[in-house]
Amino acid sequence: MPVKPSINDIAALAKRRGFIFNSSDIYGGYGGIYDYGPYGVELVNNLKKAWWYYMVQIRPDIVGLDSSIFMSPEIWKASGHVDGFSDPLAECKECHTRIRVDHILEDLGVFADEKMSSEEINKLFQENIGKIKCPHCKKCNFTEARKFNLLVKSNLGNFSDNWTETPAYLRGETCQGIYVNYLNVMQSSRVKVPFGIAQIGKAFRNEISPRQFIFRTREFEQMEMQYFTHPDNELEEYEKLRKYRWNFFTKFLGFSEKNIRWHQHENLVFYAKEAYDIEYNFPFGFKELEGVHARGNYDLTQHQKGSGKKLDYLDPITKEHYVPHIIESSIGVGRLVLATLTEAYTTIKDDDGERFVLKLHPLIAPIKVAVFPLLKNKPQLVEKAEELYGRLSKKFMCEYDDNGNIGKRYRRQDEIGTPFCITVDFQSLEDNTVTLRERDTTKQTRILIDEIIHTINMEKWS
Ligand code: GAP
Repeated sequence: MPVKPSINDIAALAKRRGFIFNSSDIYGGYGGIYDYGPYGVELVNNLKKAWWYYMVQIRPDIVGLDSSIFMSPEIWKASGHVDGFSDPLAECKECHTRIRVDHILEDLGVFADEKMSSEEINKLFQENIGKIKCPHCKKCNFTEARKFNLLVKSNLGNFSDNWTETPAYLRGETCQGIYVNYLNVMQSSRVKVPFGIAQIGKAFRNEISPRQFIFRTREFEQMEMQYFTHPDNELEEYEKLRKYRWNFFTKFLGFSEKNIRWHQHENLVFYAKEAYDIEYNFPFGFKELEGVHARGNYDLTQHQKGSGKKLDYLDPITKEHYVPHIIESSIGVGRLVLATLTEAYTTIKDDDGERFVLKLHPLIAPIKVAVFPLLKNKPQLVEKAEELYGRLSKKFMCEYDDNGNIGKRYRRQDEIGTPFCITVDFQSLEDNTVTLRERDTTKQTRILIDEIIHTINMEKWS
């Protein structure tokens, strides 16, 4: 029976095996920010490549973009982020722990609407205060709840002392860069509605309570695709996108259907036509992995007002003018990493005791093949193994390991999810064969060196 890992199991494995480290670790860490280590960066790159392949490469109707992190502050005003992008916060007066009031209320079954003012949220908070304890010191002595803006300010280009009054922001989401480039893309790449623009990039939010490892962080990457539709087709295209995104997880990445589900938003923001999240069964339960939302023409209309530029579309056949409606798919890379690690983490108990295997899809695995010489003090074995490593590493990410006994080397590769291990032994010197060991079955077969690439056939995984 597979045992579900706890978030601490995942974090421990991620650190021990060089996937994820606390930022600024030797200085005691830096709240809500993480670094990806040697295997983490491979995993992240593979997940981003998979998303890009699925969302851009095989979609003739979607093009890519890489917009800047800094943008005109007017964009954040027009989008509503300067006035409305905030979370409600209260602070424990005893130990100064800050709590997300909406999360605490939600746990009690009380819903705090995003549109509520600080006063309204505080009223709800005070009504329920008897049931609320500080998660750290367990006392109940809080400041009033107030809304706190999530945009991260900078002094870019402002050399005065009062830069906090007129700051440049680090982007709080990547899609604003897509909206404000919609006209440029349309005029330069001959796309026709319906079409999409996709981008992957960093976003920054002053999260009050970053938590659950890389689930909620202050610096993170998003993979977002905004799809521009005719107003009459918005919901039809939306249903197609929902199905397409569901298949990304279940068919393309191979996630088990029992670990993901749809969550429909009950309280839609006034401009939204429909909103569902894809939730994943993280170690701490089902939580949002990705948002798939039908946003009407709100975003382009706001930027039309803010910039004074017309952002409507002229249909080349019907000659109809309209502001396209947008459907979006938005996922955080860190959340996908966490879901992928949770999905793959497998505990195996056998005669050797308990061990872990990361059953990562070969396409996603950081290292595809590990090459071992049976013994590191036999120059002929080492030479042959190094030669093989040199050959294979031109094709895929490989690792050369000559440390410890073969069993230990297999365990290490199992823990980082390497699907294939190859051992060069004395027989290899005579007949040019090696042992190929598969991670999931632990089956070992003897094959010719010249047949390795054909046998593991990474093409079939892509
Ligand atoms: N453009 C829409 C948008 O940004 P969102 O629900 O705020 O919507 C979309 O974010 C996705 O980005 C989420 O589903 C999640 O995967 C990821 N995300 C949001 N905030 C995050 C954070 N603080 N840390 C990590 N990922 C986050």
